[in-house]
Amino acid sequence: MSKYTVAVAGASGYAGGEMLRILAAHPAFEVTTVTGDSSAGSKLGRHMLHIPSLKDMVIQPTTPEALNGHDVIVLALPHGVSGALAEKLHANCAIVDLGADHRLESSEAWAQYYGGDFHQPWVYGMPELIVGKGADGGYRRQREKLQSASLIAGPGCNVTAVTLAFQPALAAGLVQPDDIVTDLAVGYSGAGKNLKRPNLLAAEALGSATPYSVGGVHRHIPEIVQNLKQAAAALSNDDRNGLGFADQSHGDIVVGFTPILVPMARGILAVVSAKLSDKGEAMSDESIRGIFAEVYQGQRFIELLDAAEMPATTNVLGSNEAQVQVAVDRNAKRLYGFAAIDNLNRGTAGQAVQSLNIALGLPEEQGLTTIGVAP
Ligand SMILES: NC(=O)c1ccc[n+]([C@@H]2O[C@H](COP(=O)([O-])OP(=O)(O)OC[C@H]3O[C@@H](n4cnc5c(N)ncnc54)[C@H](OP(=O)(O)O)[C@@H]3O)[C@@H](O)[C@H]2O)c1
Repeated sequence: MSKYTVAVAGASGYAGGEMLRILAAHPAFEVTTVTGDSSAGSKLGRHMLHIPSLKDMVIQPTTPEALNGHDVIVLALPHGVSGALAEKLHANCAIVDLGADHRLESSEAWAQYYGGDFHQPWVYGMPELIVGKGADGGYRRQREKLQSASLIAGPGCNVTAVTLAFQPALAAGLVQPDDIVTDLAVGYSGAGKNLKRPNLLAAEALGSATPYSVGGVHRHIPEIVQNLKQAAAALSNDDRNGLGFADQSHGDIVVGFTPILVPMARGILAVVSAKLSDKGEAMSDESIRGIFAEVYQGQRFIELLDAAEMPATTNVLGSNEAQVQVAVDRNAKRLYGFAAIDNLNRGTAGQAVQSLNIALGLPEEQGLTTIGVAP
């Protein structure tokens, strides 16, 4: 069987590199072009020695000419760069943007959190995202929309962790939507490979933990709200009215978001909480757990852990798995959702390959693993 040819732009970076690592072992894809910016002209092996089979490929400058003509184009570029470039790419292929340029539906949110040109949203690449309920009462998923997609927007890594930790609570009306608090422990690679500030130097970061992008300015906030609104579309009208939602289609979802840089190369642990709704308060812990179990039943890359177990980033390193847990604090009347992911795999490249598999009619799990690297 002939393989899909793939060009990866931003191949010398962390997101591009993880994409290459997965694609190099995927039976349906062949990486035939890699591009970069300052790394152009050098061999990939100078930057990605952990992928021996691709080490002799020479990195090309990132131009439409270098990328067009492939079956699949992956953009692993800074935001703003990928949106402008995508406009010059041919439409007769699948394109996945791992950056933010095609994620947001609201141009106002884009202007507030990113700035610069707004680009139309592409099909959002999170297959398990709840997007409503079907006539049969079952959850509808983003997977359906990906089945015919040729332009795919890869989700943000923090967004992925928060969404997977908490979407069951929104979809089932277990929490009040207007005071969702998210705290995340995030590894260094989430900031990319190019040193932007000295706080990422080992001398300053090793053995230390510090918050960043605090006070409601982090760029992932509007995307989290966008996703949780989608999940809340599964609510019944009774639930929606009981929670005081202002209109029938969107909830008034408010998210506080504090990422904390912690000393690890990869990984995100998200802790998400909100006040229980009347419905959530009336339910037993077992029933609430049952809702999380129902939401993730059959979702191959998401595991709701046994009640006694807690997600840990070490368990999901190098895998497309998300480990999820739920707990209820009856004293504080809050529901807690937890998720551990590998930001580069599940949070970026793994999820993108999962979405590409669906879009191209390949088995959804092909080339991906749920097996982590521990300890
Ligand atoms: N890191 C994560 O955990 C993560 C997770 C989800 C999504 N993402 C997204 O993935 C994208 C890449 O992030 P990253 O973490 O991989 O960053 P990175 O490690 O800094 O890599 C950036 C890549 O883009 C290239 N590049 C930079 N400026 C360019 C330009 N003007 N024109 C063409 N190429 C340019 C760089 O090339 P040279 O090295 O050759 O200069 C490098 O290959 C971002 O949009 C990011 O938001 C990252």
